[in-house]
Amino acid sequence: MKSLFKIFCSIMSSVFLFTLMMPVSYASDWNRSWKKHLDEGKGVSVAPGNDDTEVYITWYGGKDGVAPVVKVSTKKDMSDAKAFEGSIHSNEKIERANHVTVTGLEKGKTYYYVCSDGTTDTKVESFKTVAENSAFSAVYVSDIHISGESYEDAYLEATAREFDNVLNEATSKADISLILSGGDQATEGRPCEYFAMVAPDELRKIPTSIAVGNHDVKRYTFSALANYPNLKTDNKSESLICSDYYFVKGNALFLVIDSTNSSAADHYEFVRDAVEANPDVMWRVMMFHHDLYGGHIESREAENKLLKLLFTPIIDEFQIDICLMGHSHCYSQSHIIYSRVISEEITKNAKITDPKGTVYFSSGTLTPDEAEKSGEPIVFDSDYKSEFIATDCLAHDESIYSILDFTEKTLTVKSYIKGNKEAFNSLEITKTSQQGGHPEEKAPMWFSVGKYLGTIYNWINNISRNGEIKERG
Ligand SMILES: [Fe+2]
Ligand SMILES: [Fe+2]
Repeated sequence: MKSLFKIFCSIMSSVFLFTLMMPVSYASDWNRSWKKHLDEGKGVSVAPGNDDTEVYITWYGGKDGVAPVVKVSTKKDMSDAKAFEGSIHSNEKIERANHVTVTGLEKGKTYYYVCSDGTTDTKVESFKTVAENSAFSAVYVSDIHISGESYEDAYLEATAREFDNVLNEATSKADISLILSGGDQATEGRPCEYFAMVAPDELRKIPTSIAVGNHDVKRYTFSALANYPNLKTDNKSESLICSDYYFVKGNALFLVIDSTNSSAADHYEFVRDAVEANPDVMWRVMMFHHDLYGGHIESREAENKLLKLLFTPIIDEFQIDICLMGHSHCYSQSHIIYSRVISEEITKNAKITDPKGTVYFSSGTLTPDEAEKSGEPIVFDSDYKSEFIATDCLAHDESIYSILDFTEKTLTVKSYIKGNKEAFNSLEITKTSQQGGHPEEKAPMWFSVGKYLGTIYNWINNISRNGEIKERG
């Protein structure tokens, strides 16, 4: 009996020790990668290229007069490396960033790469491309809000670590090929915030696509990171720090819109051209920052109503399957919406076939454990969401993310609160054809004039916003 007790005690102490070691090991992993990130000082990150045969690579710094080069190889020892020369992005508003486009990649392969800029080369990193006609998964977050005034700021590190926590958890649940961030990556738009945001190792391995949020437009800093394919550069009214861009991943077209630019005439042109250039994709996903339908924050409803008028005719005409948004810091999933009315009501955890319109998602924010918590409980299906919302989740003190699984005929969105094994909501959309149940109608007549009102408004808005950014320095 005594020896049985001893064995029991020994097992229990091993379990206890193992439990203790888990967070310690994660904490030391993070400490190591944060230190490596600061010591190296380059902030390498990978973004999607036009399709799975390209990636865009960005990093900071470099020797004066030396052009950035990325060497890419199919072998870890870099023995068959091919070099791609890029360009330097630097001006009085932003510090030097290097933008390199890697082309001619084979689909479904692992590649290794090294970045050179006349200083010490980066260590060998790797990324994977998605195979032809293969299913793939993406993780979607919004309002990361990396916050801090300097690299020594503990909160800066804490918010970067929370982003890393979320990406670690998502990649343990699915083979993630794409990271989507729906705006407000930073809080004040400071260089240290964007540098901290690219600290997670996953950003060196998994292409990351970012939309511009209103907090990002507080300074010009983000434009250094904005290295994306098919960037719209001929706007009638300019975007201040990035612009609309698109890319194809697997069988899905991703349209990333700068919703801080109200120029609907430009967005219309952009989406039309992107859709025309990619007629064969099964899925059309639009990502932008403003939460058009959530209705959780009354003071923002006037702006949302205006943006709804400017954006939804484009979303409807070009038969967008889902919109990914943020801004309100409240998670929500809409009913199926077409022409600003509910075309089909759906419930939480719905499975739908050939929806007659678009489903709009808004993600919550990311909140590190160190944050001052409001103590508000998690509320599912709150009473004060708009009538357009099928389900919501108000978890102000928690981090929320969603995993999107794309297959030939289905798109599944599963949403999680960090730390939970099970999704609190899932939506499965099946389409029997590319069009699905979308009506086929052009934007209404009034929009041919109305879209230019958004353009004029953006001209005026840019004058005051440029002034505010200059004042912030
Ligand atoms: Fe935000
Ligand atoms: Fe925002």
